Amino acid sequence: MSGDFPLPPILQTPCSSEPVLVTQGAEGRLYKTTYLTPNLPCALKYRPPKPWRHPTLDARLTKHRILSEARILSRCRKEGIRVPGVYASDEVGGWLMLEWVPGAPVRVRINEALGDRQCGIEEDEELKYLMRRIGKAIGDMHAVGVVHGDLTTSNMMLSPKPLNEVSGEAEGEKGCLEGEIVIIDLGLASGSLLIEDRAVDLYVLERAFGSTHPRAECIFDQVLEAYKGTFKQAPVVLKKLEDVRMRGRKRSMIG
Ligand SMILES: Nc1ncnc2c1ncn2[C@@H]1O[C@H](COP(=O)(O)OP(=O)(O)O)[C@@H](O)[C@H]1O
Ligand SMILES: [Mg+2]
Repeated sequence: MSGDFPLPPILQTPCSSEPVLVTQGAEGRLYKTTYLTPNLPCALKYRPPKPWRHPTLDARLTKHRILSEARILSRCRKEGIRVPGVYASDEVGGWLMLEWVPGAPVRVRINEALGDRQCGIEEDEELKYLMRRIGKAIGDMHAVGVVHGDLTTSNMMLSPKPLNEVSGEAEGEKGCLEGEIVIIDLGLASGSLLIEDRAVDLYVLERAFGSTHPRAECIFDQVLEAYKGTFKQAPVVLKKLEDVRMRGRKRSMIG
């Protein structure tokens, strides 16, 4: 099942395993397919041409985004940050072939764990531990000079086993909060050591978290608490976050 869209040319060659359309976002599509051998699963991130954009501008934008995501992913890997490995890319064809990360987006796992609970969330040690692992993952990324630009619980995966031991079949159990945080979707990421940029990264996540998981807002402090211990300037970033919040509030009062 490849969805109702025409497959990108790279997936039109005869393939032993049929590509599966996993998600369809505003900018692109994500397919699950295989790389080199039929038993190595991979994710193909495809940015189709946007007919409403000027073709030259569209090609330039696509090229820039693909290359920028590939570069920042490689840089993270070199620094030991858990992100998908880059297998191949084609900035003209508009695709990026990445290591398949088994598991589920953190958003899905948090929602499964919350179920329809209205209380007791603040005492949920398993959920709080997950939040601390998120804080640690972001801090480690910031420590090597990378800011994400679009931190949300959809742009992190909870992967049941370390990536190098995974066969691609271990997708994890519903509601299971064990596993490793793998940061994905670095299309808007950039290299930065600025305190301000890091604080904005945290603020974006804080806001996204509040609207995606309003009932779990009470445990978001665990993310920040764990972040604090990850690198030397982390406490300064958290101080800056207070200013960023203030500005956000002022802006929403003005309109
Ligand atoms: N390497 C990967 N392995 C497994 N699933 C992935 C991978 N990359 C992305 N996904 C899935 O596809 C979704 C969309 O990918 P993402 O990189 O976030 O692109 P978008 O820009 O469309 O948000 C993710 O939320 C995740 O569920
Ligand atoms: Mg995304």
